[in-house]
Amino acid sequence: MQISENTNTHYQRIGGEAKVRELVKRFYVLMDELPETHGIRKMHRGDLTDIEEKLFMFLSGWMGGPQLFVEKFGHPRLRQRHLPFAIGDAERDQWMLCMNQAVQDVVEDEVLRKELTAAFYKVADFMRNQE
Ligand code: HEM
Repeated sequence: MQISENTNTHYQRIGGEAKVRELVKRFYVLMDELPETHGIRKMHRGDLTDIEEKLFMFLSGWMGGPQLFVEKFGHPRLRQRHLPFAIGDAERDQWMLCMNQAVQDVVEDEVLRKELTAAFYKVADFMRNQE
């Protein structure tokens, strides 16, 4: 049997490009609307269009799909790119509040929801640069 495509990645399991886009869109709508996440919303530019596209491109590769971010911008060096922003426990938790809710709203498969939530927490925690 010839396997031409890996169907086991988070990218495939979530439902490919359309679902990753939906997740990212929901994430920034929540960041924009939730009063609890005003702290991290303020760090971002007024217009979220560009960052929405960038996070989509990053997550595409991170979930095992096309490496769109790397192809366009090179190695993400994500932690370094976040150093200009003060990120401590509170900021990490605000980011996770948006992402957990977005995952809840967009991802149908419960097992996948748990895997993604755990994987996102690891990256968000790694992004902290303040005591
Ligand atoms: C832990 C809390 C986090 C905070 C407070 C935060 C905040 C920010 C801010 C303020 C920007 C710049 C936005 C702009 O240009 O307007 C940014 C960029 C970005 N963030 Fe985060 N972020 C966090 C975690 C994460 C995580 C966990 C990921 C990935 C899973 C991520 C992915 C990105 C990407 C791909 C960019 C674009 C980088 C670039 O400029 O090329 N962020 N983030």
